[in-house]
Amino acid sequence: MEQVTQSRVLIEGAEGYRTIIPVNYDKTCGCLPNHINCMTPKEWIKSQLGVWQFTYEKRDIRDKTIHPATFPLSLSKKVIQLFSHEGELVLDPFVGAGTTLLAAQDTNRNAVGFDLQEKYCRLCEQRLSSDNMFNKSQQFVVCDDASNIPLYLPKESVKLIWTSPPYANMLNRKRTNKSRRDRKNDQFMQVEQYSQDPRDLGTMELDTYTKAMGDIFESLLTLLKPKAHCVINVPDMWWENQRITIHVSLIQELRKRGYELRNTIIWDRTNIVNQIGIFGWPSNYITMGTTFEYLLDFWRPPTLNKAEQAIG
Ligand SMILES: C[S@@+](CC[C@H](N)C(=O)[O-])C[C@H]1O[C@@H](n2cnc3c(N)ncnc32)[C@H](O)[C@@H]1O
Repeated sequence: MEQVTQSRVLIEGAEGYRTIIPVNYDKTCGCLPNHINCMTPKEWIKSQLGVWQFTYEKRDIRDKTIHPATFPLSLSKKVIQLFSHEGELVLDPFVGAGTTLLAAQDTNRNAVGFDLQEKYCRLCEQRLSSDNMFNKSQQFVVCDDASNIPLYLPKESVKLIWTSPPYANMLNRKRTNKSRRDRKNDQFMQVEQYSQDPRDLGTMELDTYTKAMGDIFESLLTLLKPKAHCVINVPDMWWENQRITIHVSLIQELRKRGYELRNTIIWDRTNIVNQIGIFGWPSNYITMGTTFEYLLDFWRPPTLNKAEQAIG
């Protein structure tokens, strides 16, 4: 299929809503069939480190009133370049401000992103519309619940799922951090949550959230090509002096749903965290949750078991 440059947003009522999206998903590079990406051996060696650091660039959105939780473009580009070829299809089920789509555009990958909130889908559209002359890839934004994704994509079309989902209901509370108060930060006492829509995973208690994530990711498994990767970015959080290990819940749940965990990568954020206050001293040791996050790298195993094939 001839590739065309195209960015499109699908909102309920638009032509093509809840039907298969006409997006290309075959690689356009000349790499050998057994290569998982277009990297040279030199680039590959650099990527073998299990701890990653990134800086923000001008196009990154860091204003929490625009979107409360975005990841950097440079992180997104690295994941995309590691687990896909040019021309292949990247899926972000929780696309937010569209960082994945922009990174896909920069790296010549096709991509589809989903978000419940129309305002975020419009923001994606706006970010994508600038400067698109140098490649022929396509990026689509769909304003829909991630549980409807199988209505839009054919089986075995996706080469990479890459996303940062809501962190259960951990952001759905007033931000009372001492550091925000001391800096007279505008976000002090604000709830930095995407919406109160009951379908929004950011409104759910950890157990309900884990099951909802399991249901969504199970429905995505057969959309992935065999051995295609699914990388999920999550932090752990503190809640009333308890460590909430979202990454443990997700690893256990996705394994139950047929995914295999391949790698755990640490995103070291110490170079980008703002000035921090003192916590817990002298009696209660607390690591600063903002200083690192997990990148959980799963894949669709080469062969699915019979039960999973039947679901697919
Ligand atoms: C952590 S943010 C993603 C941010 C994104 N990585 C970026 O850099 O802009 C998670 C997003 O998931 C969306 N969301 C929550 N529940 C959803 C659901 N059931 N279906 C689709 N999107 C959902 C929220 O609106 C929010 O924008």
